[in-house]
Amino acid sequence: MEISQENFTPLMRQYFRIKEQYKDAIVFFRLGDFYEMFGDDAKIASNILGLTLTSRDKSKENPISMCGIPYFAANSYIEKLLREGYKIAICEQIGDPKTSKGIVEREVVKVLTPGTFLPEGTKENVYIMAVYPQKTSNEQGRMGIALADITTAEFIVYETEKNLFDEIVRFEPKEIIVPKSLEDLLKFENLINQRMFTLFDDWKFDYMLAYKSLIEHFKVSSLKSFGLEDFHPAIQAAGALLRYLEENKQETQFKQLKVLNLSDFMLLDGTTKKNLEILSSLDGQKEGSLLWVLDETNTPMGTRFLRNALSCPLLNKAEIEERLDGVEVFFKDFVLRENVDRVLNDFPDIERLGLKIKKENISPRELKALKEALQRIPELKKTLQLNNSPVIQNLLNSLYELNEVVSLIDNALADNPPNTINEGGIFRDGYNSIVDELRTLKNQSKDYILKMETEERIKTGINSLKIGYNRVFGYYIEITKPNLKLVPSHYIRKQTLANAERFETKELKELEQKILSAEERLKIVEEELFRSLIKEISKNTEQIFKSAETIGYIDFLCCLAKVASKYKYTRPEITEEEVIEIVEGRHPVIERLIQLGKLPEQRFIPNDLSIGSKDQRIIILTGPNMAGKSTYMRQNALIILMAQIGSFVPAKEAKIGIVDRIFTRIGASDYLGKGQSTFMVEMIEVANILNNATEKSFIILDEVGRGTSTFDGISIAWAVVEYIAEKIMARTLFATHYHELTDLAFSYDCIKNYTVVVKEWGDEIIFLRKIQKGGADKSYGIQVARLAGLPQQIILRAKEILKKLEKKEFQTFQSKAKQLDLFFQGDPVLAELAKIDVENITPQKALKKLKELKEMIRND
Ligand SMILES: Nc1ncnc2c1ncn2[C@@H]1O[C@H](COP(=O)(O)OP(=O)(O)OP(=O)(O)O)[C@@H](O)[C@H]1O
Ligand SMILES: [Mg+2]
Repeated sequence: MEISQENFTPLMRQYFRIKEQYKDAIVFFRLGDFYEMFGDDAKIASNILGLTLTSRDKSKENPISMCGIPYFAANSYIEKLLREGYKIAICEQIGDPKTSKGIVEREVVKVLTPGTFLPEGTKENVYIMAVYPQKTSNEQGRMGIALADITTAEFIVYETEKNLFDEIVRFEPKEIIVPKSLEDLLKFENLINQRMFTLFDDWKFDYMLAYKSLIEHFKVSSLKSFGLEDFHPAIQAAGALLRYLEENKQETQFKQLKVLNLSDFMLLDGTTKKNLEILSSLDGQKEGSLLWVLDETNTPMGTRFLRNALSCPLLNKAEIEERLDGVEVFFKDFVLRENVDRVLNDFPDIERLGLKIKKENISPRELKALKEALQRIPELKKTLQLNNSPVIQNLLNSLYELNEVVSLIDNALADNPPNTINEGGIFRDGYNSIVDELRTLKNQSKDYILKMETEERIKTGINSLKIGYNRVFGYYIEITKPNLKLVPSHYIRKQTLANAERFETKELKELEQKILSAEERLKIVEEELFRSLIKEISKNTEQIFKSAETIGYIDFLCCLAKVASKYKYTRPEITEEEVIEIVEGRHPVIERLIQLGKLPEQRFIPNDLSIGSKDQRIIILTGPNMAGKSTYMRQNALIILMAQIGSFVPAKEAKIGIVDRIFTRIGASDYLGKGQSTFMVEMIEVANILNNATEKSFIILDEVGRGTSTFDGISIAWAVVEYIAEKIMARTLFATHYHELTDLAFSYDCIKNYTVVVKEWGDEIIFLRKIQKGGADKSYGIQVARLAGLPQQIILRAKEILKKLEKKEFQTFQSKAKQLDLFFQGDPVLAELAKIDVENITPQKALKKLKELKEMIRND
């Protein structure tokens, strides 16, 4: 703003000086009990927050727009602005207004960004991510990623050669820091919500700077011990992230530098995570997702553990089995499960509270919550001790009782401690003698006031005389109009009201001084005392963190056991072979929706899957519309995924050969916003699958090719399946309405046909939802259309057209049969066999032919 600042008051000059340093943020300027915003900030904020815009210095030529919000209600406003992609610089009064000369000193104490703000009631992680690609061009190179949650003090770094989108979907960061030079590329990609990205000067990603700040932060002499030495892009991303937090005054001492090795986890690309509706359903709700079925966690730590487990399923058999063993203990021991469930019910976020202790910014009320949580640990231990399995013994070893901390807090805190540390009332009577003394003084003084009131009434003879208090005038004596003539001469008039006047006396002011100073001192003493209490407790943060982690894990195990028992899941057998055998598998979400009456189905019909052996690696699934093909394919993918996070699965029996990646190509999702047509997106996704799948992968392809003309579609689908059969050999389920594809089973041993059976009942179809060997012969599309309520006229007409087309198709089929001869050309025996006209051959000739054929084989 280029307005001459000389005309402004000192306050506004102070404001502009600060605003100058935080141009890209909305400055919340603390004025008494309000945060005020000025100028353009005010215009933006008033618009988004629905605040009235007023202006300061109205008389001036260029009045400055302004609006404000009460400081204690700031959080919800902050949340809204952050969601719109704005940053907020919180500028507080640093000096004491009472003691400072001129205007109070003010300073920005922190800058809030979407990645560093914890909205009220959030259990999940709030991740902020920094990305540094080795090459800043379009070429694919290694990409360094650093991830932090400043509310739990987690810090993770890793590298990937895959695309950024998958990593964003994996961790769902709220904000992503990228080098400025990437700006154009990001615009070009136009992939995701642009607001998530924060551009950061390239030089701040400098390797040497980054290395230095990392070893300083984690107090190590080199990064060798982390195995990070060669990961330049990762180090650069991590360094920039630390720097960004520092610049925003959000420094956090992170617990540890966790180096993630992506090859330890199943890769769920962004599309698959969305398609399988793992954390949220396709319409963005939690209901209808796998998480919705599985999440019966009681603690925020458990919630986070479960979410992370779902985003990073395991690949290592031993690790998966360790979790399964854990779940099984809780599954089998009903009493243990019930009790742990009860003890952990509504358990507070002691991980975040522990971090607040460490950062020394916990409120008295939060400290009390922490104490109440810690108090439950001995009970949790006692409950666990009743089970003597090794799993439980292990858990017990990393669960700390922290009884001293509990009694420390218990002895200190008042029963109802306040939310802030500078308003007094924090401590119990008897905890500290100075506090007690000041409190007595304060209380006595109040008695003195009452006493003085009575005395003045007697002295003056005014019965209605009252001593009151307000923030502006302090204590005053109030006399109603009719009694004014009785006021003694030493009363000093302060204020006139409609039907009363207010006075003070020397005596009253002296008393007031005493009371106020006792109160003031009390606040100061309590605050200091509280800070030293926190310091004392902060010595135990490591143990609090450890316990928090263990509780999260226990909660996770217990939750999965609870769900398994409620919905009759079973423990899967995990194997490193490539077979998958599922007996009577179910779709966990559809099953739940049916149980809750949210779908019209009577009950969920289970189905088997056997895939992975040499002669059954690819399944072509045909069957009518609405029969249950998509459901079946997803259910199998979900069962595999569940098994690999260590969960029991919705099946009677399951043997799961570990899968390195699950790929999905499902449905016609429109990405028009991204400038790509439906078919284009479909092909991009298929290309991605074919380029990245391995023989350890599991692929589900739902109606690939349907986005284009039938013949193009069939040809593409056909070629894709062939490619998988010849080059990849991934376990694949391919659902299609192109019945032509079932012919592929004749050419490849590893391809088998399955179909979902329906029963015809006159003109109706009954969905049996059973998967069976073989191919389907009809689509029943018209019947389904009728079920959907398409007008009768259209149904009849469609049937007519279908009849004509079928006749035509029969002709093309005949000509195709001739083409099929081509398949047999390679084999003279088969070619000979194909030539036989069975209808018109005599038995004698047939025998002769048979002999010839046998001869041919022998000669081969
Ligand atoms: N095994 C099952 N048991 C009970 N209900 C099922 C089962 N499978 C599917 N359904 C129900 O049938 C509906 C349709 O299933 P689905 O979408 O899988 O059919 P589809 O064969 O893929 O159809 P289309 O060919 O039109 O894509 C599901 O939404 C579900 O309500
Ligand atoms: Mg379908």
